[in-house]
Amino acid sequence: MMLVSKVPATTANLGVGFDTLGLALKLYNIFEVRVTEPDTPDTIEIVGEGREELIKRENNSFIKAIEYFYRLYNLPIPHLAIKIFSNIPLCRGLGSSASAIVAGLMVGNTLTGKNLSKETLLRYAVELEGHPDNVTPAMFGGCTISLVNNGEILVKKIPFPEEIAVIVAVPQFNVKTEPSRKLIPDCVPLDVTIRGLAKMGIFINSLLTKDLNDLPLILEDELHEPYRAKYIPNYKKIKEEVISRGALGVVISGSGPSMAVLSKIDKVKQLKEDIELILLKNNIESKIFDLEIDNEGALLEVKECIM
Ligand code: HSE
Repeated sequence: MMLVSKVPATTANLGVGFDTLGLALKLYNIFEVRVTEPDTPDTIEIVGEGREELIKRENNSFIKAIEYFYRLYNLPIPHLAIKIFSNIPLCRGLGSSASAIVAGLMVGNTLTGKNLSKETLLRYAVELEGHPDNVTPAMFGGCTISLVNNGEILVKKIPFPEEIAVIVAVPQFNVKTEPSRKLIPDCVPLDVTIRGLAKMGIFINSLLTKDLNDLPLILEDELHEPYRAKYIPNYKKIKEEVISRGALGVVISGSGPSMAVLSKIDKVKQLKEDIELILLKNNIESKIFDLEIDNEGALLEVKECIM
């Protein structure tokens, strides 16, 4: 028997929804797992992004999540043959570790026969990841808003306008989430909080009504972007230029350094070329993806294995 889990990339925060909003994108990591004989050593094969990192067990969030699940239920961890098709760039703010955590928990859940709901698995995923905004859309797909309150998690899916796609510019350099979170102050002045609340509310309203004209202003975050912008040379200038070329909004994806550009679908082709040039002009080499929204979230399939 082989388990195959396919989990989407995610862009967290969406500017004004720090640690709460996230969006699943049609770029996937695929995790294949077979239980092997007790006397055979584990094998790990990585194809694609971040091979050198992920091949080390201690850096591999997928393996850690499987082990976490087994330990939670005091079960012996089986020997596994693992193959990961890693398509989501690592440490770039696109939820590669969230995808691994979600897949690892789903695999653990199936292998142990626990058959827990996705909602329960999400609680474990948030414990492992520390914040919900990547793991929630990775699990459920679409645009999600998550509230973590006394260990309980309330999740709502927000209909995301079909006419919007996301162009993601992934710089060659990486940024780790932990140091990037440490840049953000613990206390926020009241006026900043009030503007943030209003922007979040208007953003949700814009998505629901498809009235997208105010997005450049509404997506202007004051909680984390001002502190993280320093990782991206000329971020403010780049953002202004991309918006002047017709983007609906530009935000730092998750903890960065990728930038997520919201665009009307019919503008994507031209905007993608423009973004590439603008970034090159600012000496930022990057890979640019145009991605539609994933609405399914994490999938797991059990296949018969032909030896
Ligand atoms: N909300 C988290 C952060 C996402 O911005 O730190 C990490 O990808």
